Amino acid sequence: MKTSNSLLAALCAIVLVFSHCSVSDKKEDKTNIQKRIAMNKLVKDHHSHSAPNESRVKHLSWDAEVDFKTRIITATATFDLTNADDAKKVIFDVKDLTDYKITVDGKESAFELGEDNPLLGRALTIPISAETKQVTVAYKTSPDAGALLWVDGEKPFLFSQSQAILARTWIPCMDSPGVRYTYNATVKVRKDLLALMSAENPTEKNDTGVYTFKMDQPIPSYLLALAVGDVEYRAIGDRTGVYAVPDMIEAAHYEFQEMDEMLVEAEKLYGKYVWDQYDVIVLPAAFPFGGMENPRLTFATPTIIAGDRSLTSLIAHELAHSWSGNLVTNSTWNDFWLNEGFTVYFEMRIMEAVYGREYSEMLALLSQQGLISENEEILSGDNPEDTELKLSLAGRSPDDGMTAIAYDKGYFFLRLMEEKLGRERFDKFLKDYFTAHSFQVMDTERFIDYLMANLLSEEEAKELDIQAWIYGKGLPANMPKIDSDKMTKVDALAASMTDDSTVSTIPWGEWKYQEKVRFLSQLPEALKAPFMTKLDAAFDITNIGNNEVLFEWLEQSIYRDYEASFNRADKFLVSVGRRKFLTPLYKAFKETGRIALAREIYKKARPNYHSVAIETMDDLLTK
Ligand code: BES
Ligand code: ZN
Repeated sequence: MKTSNSLLAALCAIVLVFSHCSVSDKKEDKTNIQKRIAMNKLVKDHHSHSAPNESRVKHLSWDAEVDFKTRIITATATFDLTNADDAKKVIFDVKDLTDYKITVDGKESAFELGEDNPLLGRALTIPISAETKQVTVAYKTSPDAGALLWVDGEKPFLFSQSQAILARTWIPCMDSPGVRYTYNATVKVRKDLLALMSAENPTEKNDTGVYTFKMDQPIPSYLLALAVGDVEYRAIGDRTGVYAVPDMIEAAHYEFQEMDEMLVEAEKLYGKYVWDQYDVIVLPAAFPFGGMENPRLTFATPTIIAGDRSLTSLIAHELAHSWSGNLVTNSTWNDFWLNEGFTVYFEMRIMEAVYGREYSEMLALLSQQGLISENEEILSGDNPEDTELKLSLAGRSPDDGMTAIAYDKGYFFLRLMEEKLGRERFDKFLKDYFTAHSFQVMDTERFIDYLMANLLSEEEAKELDIQAWIYGKGLPANMPKIDSDKMTKVDALAASMTDDSTVSTIPWGEWKYQEKVRFLSQLPEALKAPFMTKLDAAFDITNIGNNEVLFEWLEQSIYRDYEASFNRADKFLVSVGRRKFLTPLYKAFKETGRIALAREIYKKARPNYHSVAIETMDDLLTK
C-alpha cells in the first residue's frame, strides 16, 4: 500500500483506542472507516481470484439496464482503486459475464480472462500502474447468471442472491469478504417496476424507470444486492419499513410491526445501528433462503408471513447481521461461524427482549434439536471435520459450510460463555467486540486472541474447553441445557401417544408454533398413517397457514406414509423455493422409496427454483 502497513497499523491502533468510547454514539466519519479498512488483516481467501494487496477497490459506480425480455443486465462498473507502490495489475472475479470492454483512466485497455473454474469462475486481469485511479468494465450478464432469478409474469420480478460467491455473476468484483468498498448506482428498469438495492433506496416508482442508489458505508461484495419488481413501500417506524407486491403489502406490514421494537432492543444490547434505515423486502416464494441480510434492505421469503407474527425470529436474525456479519465480517468462508453463530446468539437475545425468555427458550430448543441431528449426520458422512467450527473449504463450495454447525454450535458456544461468565460480563465483551472491529474482517484465530486478551483467563478457557468447541469434532460435553417447561410438557405428551389415543384433548390451538413443530417431531416412530389421519381430522394440519408447522407436518407425513398429504407436499414443493424446506422433503421421498415421485415433482418445480436450490436438488435427485 502507499502508506507503509506498519505505520498505518500504528495509526489505527491509536484511532481505535480513542474511537472506542465515541463510535457508538455518533456516526463514524469516513476517513476513520477508511483507516479501519486499511488495517484489515487479510488472510488468504481460497474463494476469490482477487489480489487486494496489490490493488484494491475503494468505490464502485455501477450503471445498469435491466432487460426482462432477454434476461440480461447490460452494465458499466467503474472502480476507484487503492494501489500498492509496485502494483502492475488489478484482478476481479467474474463468472459468465460477456461482451467486456475495459478502460483504464479513460483509455481503452487490453485485459486477460483466466481459465473458467466451475466453482470460482474466471480471473479478469487488467494491467495498471501504481498511479492508476480508475478502471471501467462494460459488460453483460448471461441469462443464467447464478445469482439472479428472473420470475415471469405480467409483473415480472428479478432478485439477486450474492452470498457466498455469486456476486461475480452479475458484477465484476473482488468477491472476498475482506474487501470492502462504498458504492453508488443508477439502474434503469421497466417503467411499471421499482428497483431496490442494498443501499439508500427509493420508496416510490417514478415515470422514468431510472433509479439512483448510494451506499456510503463500505461493504463486501457478497452484500451487493438488487431487486426489481412491482413493489410498494409502507413505513413501520421512523427507521423501518417494508416493501412487497400490492397483494401482500398489507399482510407484510401487519406481520413485521415489531421490527422497530427489535431494532431498539438490538441497539440496547450491542450498540447503535449504523446503517440508518432498516427495511425488509418480501420476495417471491422462489427465494432460496429464509432471509438475506443485505444492508439497509433485508431480503425475505414470503413463507414467514403467517398472519399472526409468529415467524419473526427470522427478521431478528437478519437484523442482528447488521452487527455480526455486516459490521464485523468473517474473513473467509472458513470463519462463517463468526457471522452466523454470533447472529443466532444475537437473534435469541433480541427475541428474549421482545417476546420473553419462555418464548426464546422454545426457539433455542428447536435450534439444539436441529444441531444434534445434523451433527450426527455430518459425523457419519464423508467430511466429519465439517462439525468443527473452523472450516476448511478450500477447493469446495462455501455452501458446504452452511450447516447447523456454524449457526447452532456457534450459538451454543457463545451461550456457554454467557452462562459461565455471567451476562453482564459477556454483553460488555460483545459490545466492545463489535465496536472495536466494525468495518473489519475477523478470522477465528484473531477472535481467539481477542477473546483471551479481553474476556477469558487461561483457566476459564480451559474450563470452557474452547479448543474442543472451535477445533474439535462433534458436540462438547458441556453443551448448555435448555430449560423449557412448555417443551418438556409437549415431549411428554408426544411420547404418550398411541394409536388408541384421543387426539381431541391435545391443546393444539393453545400452542405456539414451536410447540406444534416439536410435538410432530417427537411422536413415537410406530405411529403411522392411521394416527396422522386422526390428527389431521382434528386440526386440519394439511391446510395450516404456518409454513414451519406445515413443513414439519409434510416431512412427518412422508416418513409415516400418510399419503393424503402428498398433494399438499407436491403443491408446496412447486410453489416454494426455500432450500431449507426443499431438501428434507425431497430427501424424505427418496429415503422412503419414492424417488420416482420426487423426480416427477422436481421436474415441474425445477424451472421455478434459484440456482443454489437447483444445485442441491440436482445433487440429491439425479445421482
Ligand atoms: N446469510 C444467511 C443466508 C446465506 C448464508 C446465504 C450463506 C448464502 C450463503 C442468512 O442470514 C441466514 O442465515 N438465513 C437463514 C435464516 C435464519 C433465521 C437462520 C435462512 O435463510 O434459513
Ligand atoms: Zn444468517
